[in-house]
Amino acid sequence: MLYNLVMNEYLTISETAKLLKKSTKTLRRWDEEGKLTAIREPISNYRVYLKSDVENLFAEFLQIDVPETISNFVKPNHEYKVLELFAGAGGLAVGMEKAGLKCVALNELDKFACATLRKNRPHWNVLEGDIKKFNFNEYANQVDVVTGGFPCQAFSYAGKRLGLEDARGTLFYEFARAVKEVNPPICIGENVRGLLSHDGGKTLQGMISVLDEIGYNVVPVQVLKAIHYKVPQKRERLILVGIRKDIDIPYEYPKPHHKIFNLSDALKKGELYDCKVPQSGGAKYPETKKAVLDLVPPKGYWRDLPIDIQKEFMGASFYLGGGKTGMARRIGWDEPCLTLTCSPAQKQTERCHPDETRPFTVREYARIQTFPDDWEFAGSLAQQYKQIGNAVPVNLAKELGYSIIQFLNHYYKTKEDVN
Ligand SMILES: C[S@@+](CC[C@H](N)C(=O)[O-])C[C@H]1O[C@@H](n2cnc3c(N)ncnc32)[C@H](O)[C@@H]1O
Repeated sequence: MLYNLVMNEYLTISETAKLLKKSTKTLRRWDEEGKLTAIREPISNYRVYLKSDVENLFAEFLQIDVPETISNFVKPNHEYKVLELFAGAGGLAVGMEKAGLKCVALNELDKFACATLRKNRPHWNVLEGDIKKFNFNEYANQVDVVTGGFPCQAFSYAGKRLGLEDARGTLFYEFARAVKEVNPPICIGENVRGLLSHDGGKTLQGMISVLDEIGYNVVPVQVLKAIHYKVPQKRERLILVGIRKDIDIPYEYPKPHHKIFNLSDALKKGELYDCKVPQSGGAKYPETKKAVLDLVPPKGYWRDLPIDIQKEFMGASFYLGGGKTGMARRIGWDEPCLTLTCSPAQKQTERCHPDETRPFTVREYARIQTFPDDWEFAGSLAQQYKQIGNAVPVNLAKELGYSIIQFLNHYYKTKEDVN
């Protein structure tokens, strides 16, 4: 049943080609360019497209100029409480707070990320340390939603179906254990798109079966594109929503917005921010890399370099084929930024500033992730970049927060009606 629901989220390559009236060759090129990315279907491992991605592209072709009437905003009818696990520097937590949810506790291992949380929200209850050392029984039936971006690890399978105890030793186990202890109406896991195909889809299926065992039905998994949620960045997050089995209320993902924001919206005064990005420290490229990137125009990448420099810069990758459109990339003002990584000068994932040959500064990074300008980050420059690069974009989290509030309003209304 769950498997079918998940399966229905995909289209095969030939279905997609037919729908969009394009050849499979064009689709392959689009895949390389990142315009429409195929993924591995978790069970069969076939290359497929997410139905929602194809539908969005379809709407673009038809040039459906739908006025931006979409709003996911909804006011909470009660004070809803969140327990946020693997909280990092608070991307998800700040977004939830902006939506109107209240963080009652946040767990995080990294001391710099904890310092960031405390610096900005001295009243937040930050539980610093390894999640394994905490038990959450004191929050039993006191919290409305448990959230967490657990790092993804493979399971070792003893039997056919993964149970909670078989998952022991992984961080997903800790997430599921917390959910079991707290018993909230809804829980939300977030992860990278790669979880879909991790260990041939077995990791995700294992997570779904663990949640099933502890009493939660999993809503068909979706990968949300941040660009559809007021984030000027092509980042994607996989969302895993569990609904407690005694609750028969549908959960709906936040509706995607039509308007897509770009780098200029992130760094200049406009609809997203009412002033230009504040100045701050930032990393630098080594001289040799800077000399190469000086030759790349805005929106260009390694293919825009003279052929001898391409070969030298790319090394063995030059001969490996594939688009590698993220290498030696200079972002343009009129496009969303490519996904930010945890380290801005990292090899093979350069995202150079449009006008200057340098990585984005810390405050520019924070804006591309839609953090407010007054959200400060603790630790060294490298620690700050890491925290920002790890975060769920705040605006995406806010929209997700509205979808949780919508669900909880409905849940409590139904409960009140019955009583
Ligand atoms: C992807 S990040 C989460 C980002 C966060 N959701 C945000 O939006 O900013 C995962 C976090 O899990 C934390 N983590 C890893 N292992 C942990 C453990 N054993 N206990 C608690 N936190 C852990 C990492 O330090 C990291 O900050």
